[in-house]
Amino acid sequence: MTAVGIDALEIWTGKLKLDLAETFAPAKDDAPEKYTKGLGLEASSFPDTYEDIVTMGANAAKRLMDRKGLSPDDIGRIDVATESAFDNSKPVSTYIAGCLEDVYDGDFHHANKGERKFACVAGTQSIDDAYNWIKAGRNRGRAALVIATDTALYARGDPGEATQGAGAVAMLVTENPSLVELSTDQGYGSADETDFLKPNQQFPSVDGKRSVQVYLARMREALEDYESVAGRTHPDDFEYIPFHTPFPGMVRKAALLGFRHMTRGTEIEDGLADEIGRQPREDEYEDWDAYEDAIRDYMDALKETETYDEWYGQAIDPTLSLSRRVGNWYTGSVHVARMSALKTAAETGRALAGDRLLVGSYGSGAQAEIHSETVADGWREEVDALNIDEQLARRYDLSFEEYGRVHDAHNHEKERELEEFTVPSGEFVFTGWGRMNERK
Ligand code: CAA
Repeated sequence: MTAVGIDALEIWTGKLKLDLAETFAPAKDDAPEKYTKGLGLEASSFPDTYEDIVTMGANAAKRLMDRKGLSPDDIGRIDVATESAFDNSKPVSTYIAGCLEDVYDGDFHHANKGERKFACVAGTQSIDDAYNWIKAGRNRGRAALVIATDTALYARGDPGEATQGAGAVAMLVTENPSLVELSTDQGYGSADETDFLKPNQQFPSVDGKRSVQVYLARMREALEDYESVAGRTHPDDFEYIPFHTPFPGMVRKAALLGFRHMTRGTEIEDGLADEIGRQPREDEYEDWDAYEDAIRDYMDALKETETYDEWYGQAIDPTLSLSRRVGNWYTGSVHVARMSALKTAAETGRALAGDRLLVGSYGSGAQAEIHSETVADGWREEVDALNIDEQLARRYDLSFEEYGRVHDAHNHEKERELEEFTVPSGEFVFTGWGRMNERK
């Protein structure tokens, strides 16, 4: 059977940076460690005033098409995943296609375009749609372009303000992919939740503490559902486990939960028994609360063990290296996490082709999806082609006062002439609601 998966990927970061330890923490009168250690974040990427979800998505897609030598005729489908859309009718993919048509010979008139929405999980859902489209034989030899693009902004003063971010990830889904092959093994955890909402409003209404619990509950269900298809999971089955990363501290919690689940009844639990005891079993407790307390105590002890620490350092920590520097990119976040891991592997000279990844995607509202992938033979060239380190190093470092002005500009003042902090160079820029975007 022909393999289908992600052939190539490009990342475009917002061109401004908000340093959390140096700039944000002092302005909030907080200890920098709350952000760097507690949330696990160093900085957020922010869009300059001439950037938005369209320009960032189009810029990522242009880099991808140029690098792979593609023309519009090679692409049969453009899906944009976003929770920052500004148009309730026209999908963002049409705006991005319009930008790209200005710079390539040919057009995307033949391409099926759409917009996927389910908070942050929509990026992975769009990949799934592209996979199904190719597997169904409807692609006529063409590739799918999937773009996850978001400006993740919270109201000033909201606890979520520290976890903001902005950027786009463009991915090409094809047969015989160079980066990762997708498997049919998938699991879901989905429920109607109200902890994170944006009903016709600019900023999300968030119950932050509850959102953490909802994430963990849906992720656990998705893992169990995945195992009902793929069989029991074991930590050694997967080289890396990239999770949706609103902030690395969230992933620390999800990883601990996953490790506990995967090791129950295994030689790893046996090996830890003398040190921290056995995992609590539900039938040993009179009520659910007592059982939950015992699980919590077990996990507190588990996270202090060398066994866990070693696994976390190998399978999880490498997935967080970019996210620490860019914050939450909503739909793009889990795809940045996958790339962080592969990039770390490339930098440390590891051979990965044929190894498996377990990918945990999540969207508020809420749905988690767990699926597995296999690293493809061409992964190293794809990772080496990224220029994300240069992009991150070039970001303009905002003062807190400038950050306030940019935040206001993005959300209230798009109509007037805006100050720019960086100079556009060979990229799509926002030029006002009339003509929207052009290349400068
Ligand atoms: N040194 C070290 N650690 C410190 C510290 C210090 N000086 N001060 C605080 N901390 C730790 C805290 O103990 C805490 O860690 P634990 O959770 O492990 O206990 C961490 O830093 C954060 O501190 P607080 O809980 O006090 O932070 P907060 O309440 O101000 O904000 C938040 C946390 C509620 C998650 C907030 O960032 C938020 O609302 N974020 C947006 C919502 C979100 O991202 N939710 C995640 C799940 S939903 C999802 O994933 C979808 C999505 O993309 C939005």
